[in-house]
Amino acid sequence: MTLPRLRHLLTLDGLGEARLHALLDEAEAMLPHARGGTALRQVLAGRTVCNLFFENSTRTRSSFQLAAQRLGADVLNFDVGASSVKKGETALDTFRTLEAMGVEAFVVRHAEDGAVAALADAAGPGTALLNAGDGRSNHPTQGLLDMLTLRRHKGRDFSRLSVLVVGDVKHSRVARSDLQALRQLGCRDLRVCGPAALLPGPEVLEGCTVGQELDAMLEGVDVLMMLRLQRERMEEGLVPSLEAYFADYGLDARRLARAKPDAIVMHPGPMNRGVEIAAEVADGPRSVILEQVANGVAVRMAVLSHLLGA
Ligand code: CP
Repeated sequence: MTLPRLRHLLTLDGLGEARLHALLDEAEAMLPHARGGTALRQVLAGRTVCNLFFENSTRTRSSFQLAAQRLGADVLNFDVGASSVKKGETALDTFRTLEAMGVEAFVVRHAEDGAVAALADAAGPGTALLNAGDGRSNHPTQGLLDMLTLRRHKGRDFSRLSVLVVGDVKHSRVARSDLQALRQLGCRDLRVCGPAALLPGPEVLEGCTVGQELDAMLEGVDVLMMLRLQRERMEEGLVPSLEAYFADYGLDARRLARAKPDAIVMHPGPMNRGVEIAAEVADGPRSVILEQVANGVAVRMAVLSHLLGA
């Protein structure tokens, strides 16, 4: 089946199983080139990609930059802090200004839900928008790199897997994109665990088994997705203390022993060590956290070349 090319990547919602596997197959093909080399430097030669980040980032921004460069694109890393945004220019006027300079693909991160979709609505016919994280809503390339990592460890049949998402699901765009992808890929045992104050509404938790006792939720799990406690997005008092949070929801080696012996541990980063995950687990043999990072470059190469029709 040939799938039509996507114009933008704003969300994973509604893409469907075949499209998701096709994007992951494209990312698999990029993996041998993701750490460097010049073999693919002609793919986006002469094309221009802009990183437009209104929120901070290490992994997403750097990997999009490397992905675009490894495909030979010209990359504009727009520095919002040194720009006319600081004089009051809006995100939309900033976007239109850069689009007028010939940027064809914008990688955008913004604190407001729907901000990237709003720019996509205003984009000209030859301009692609890639959502690099908007508010609590979507982080589609993180969802794809998580699925690629999971697929490479556990195979293409997601229906056999038990996946547990732990922590601050309420504020997490990563959790939303991961849950959207896992449902569409056929995962039937989806579990979510966190304190009641950090759980989102039922629309996010559709089809999930929800609980607050981490030890019980860990039994028989194949994949653990630990989430960062997003203190920058939360009102005061949702968590009594970081020590109490770690005692109830932190993943240490004792707890990890309750999952399956070959369970893998994922975290999107950045990590709060000693808050949601112990260093012994983050750096231990079951952790695939740095593989997630490496797979992110391949996913972003695949998505950029797909959207730009290369
Ligand atoms: N996972 C993630 O989005 O990390 P950054 O905020 O560092 O990009």
